Amino acid sequence: MADQQTAQPSTCCCGGEKTDEKLEKVKAAIENLKGLKGALIPVLHEVQDIYGYLPEDVLKLVSAELKMSLAEIYGVATFYSFFSLTPKGEHVIRVCMGTACYIKGAQGLLDRLSQELNVPVNGTTADNKFTLDATRCLGACGLAPVLTIGEKVYGRLTPNDVPKILKEYK
Ligand code: FES
Repeated sequence: MADQQTAQPSTCCCGGEKTDEKLEKVKAAIENLKGLKGALIPVLHEVQDIYGYLPEDVLKLVSAELKMSLAEIYGVATFYSFFSLTPKGEHVIRVCMGTACYIKGAQGLLDRLSQELNVPVNGTTADNKFTLDATRCLGACGLAPVLTIGEKVYGRLTPNDVPKILKEYK
């Protein structure tokens, strides 16, 4: 009788790509970059591009391959705000809290988003659809206050614009 149990490829929670394929991409990226001085940051960028965040298991691999302590890697990963140690939602909302945006009411925008999504800042909604982040200047100060969702930039906003924007993604 044929063996009914066949090995299923493992999948990742973010995007469904096979975990093994992601790991192979990480290994290839490390191989390409590990000779370079300061390889850690580009390697972490690659890991985050591939997984959407920096999973602990993968950081252990990076640690072994780059011959750096895990503590050192966590030190770098937590220092830079663009790295995330937790999975993000499908849509990442970044509200600029830089000076120009703050003066023009970014806090009200952030509060309204937090209220509408029922998540704290840096939180992800229960359905994994949205992550709400506060960020530094996004370089679009002329449009203050500004938020981005993925690559899309929204400017000159008031808190009352929030429901309409969220509707685009629901
Ligand atoms: S301060 Fe918000 S885009 Fe520059």
